[in-house]
Amino acid sequence: LKIIKKPNKMQEISDNLHKKGKIGFVPTMGALHKGHLSLIEKAREENDFLILSIFVNPLQFGPSEDYERYPRPYKEDVKLAKGGGVDYLFYPSVSDLYPEKQETFVKMPEFEGILCGRNRPTHFQGVLTVVAKLFNITKPHNAYFGQKDYQQAIMIRKMTKDLNFDVNIKILPIIREGDGLAMSSRNIYLSKEERGKASVLYQSLLKGKRLLEKGGDREEIISLMKGMIEREGFEIDYIEILDKETLKEGKTLIALAARIGKTRLIDNIII
Ligand code: PAF
Repeated sequence: LKIIKKPNKMQEISDNLHKKGKIGFVPTMGALHKGHLSLIEKAREENDFLILSIFVNPLQFGPSEDYERYPRPYKEDVKLAKGGGVDYLFYPSVSDLYPEKQETFVKMPEFEGILCGRNRPTHFQGVLTVVAKLFNITKPHNAYFGQKDYQQAIMIRKMTKDLNFDVNIKILPIIREGDGLAMSSRNIYLSKEERGKASVLYQSLLKGKRLLEKGGDREEIISLMKGMIEREGFEIDYIEILDKETLKEGKTLIALAARIGKTRLIDNIII
């Protein structure tokens, strides 16, 4: 495993690798868990070279969000990257990646105003902008994203098409804990009691899916799911039933976000 911090050095290496074989790229903010490891494993299988990035991107956090306290277990992450067969870990500092004030942004207004974007107004332009930069630095053939951040994955795929990035976007299934809670770096914020209650999110998605497949009424399903989740002490941010490709009206995706204490969790299920 080689650790590279400077974007121009990484670019030089990627340029060389790109000519020799297929580059798989897994962008992350670190605090690697089994969800990330499933992306690393698939990328290792499908490519000749594997680049992992770890960068907690300040651009995608709102002013009252968890940028400062976001977990940064660097040594643990390096071990996991080694174990996963990563060839290059791209690990820039904020001033490496944003040496000057960033003035260029990738925006997608229609997608930014829905689901997670409604309460996190600058989040997705931060994600898209950093992913565009990372693609230009790591020059991947294939890039891997988790279905848990579903809106993010769909928007990145759309950006890739719209801006003609020569990268295949692969979206891999959610990895869950034994009780169904979707793996997330933010799960460590949960107290023991909150953690015990958090499986209700997946339970409600399963219930919603069953009812939707039986032809149930959208509003009734959402209201039933809300009841289940609120009874466990969560505050709902949104529950929506949408089309899984367009994220507009449809019945092929149920997505939700909810808060308990100081933690906001998201999850989704495809019908
Ligand atoms: O999903 C994440 O960890 C981040 O949003 C990403 C894609 C690495 C961009 O910072």
